[in-house]
Amino acid sequence: MSTPDSRPVTNEVTVRACPDGPLLLRGPATIVDEAGDAVPRSRATVALCRCGGTAIAPWCDGTHKVNGYRSDD
Ligand code: FES
Repeated sequence: MSTPDSRPVTNEVTVRACPDGPLLLRGPATIVDEAGDAVPRSRATVALCRCGGTAIAPWCDGTHKVNGYRSDD
């Protein structure tokens, strides 16, 4: 089986840090909140906030683009 862009479907989980932005999580990982409850997700790839500015935690809402977040600080 393949994804729509012809990449093979795998159970691999990857997390990629975007420069000055979120962590892109790809794959079938379960995200849990501080209470240990699973956070529902509907996409195979999700962006996790690491700037602390998002209004929709744990997801990135683009606020890092306006709050001056720098990943190299
Ligand atoms: S990393 Fe995008 S809003 Fe925080």
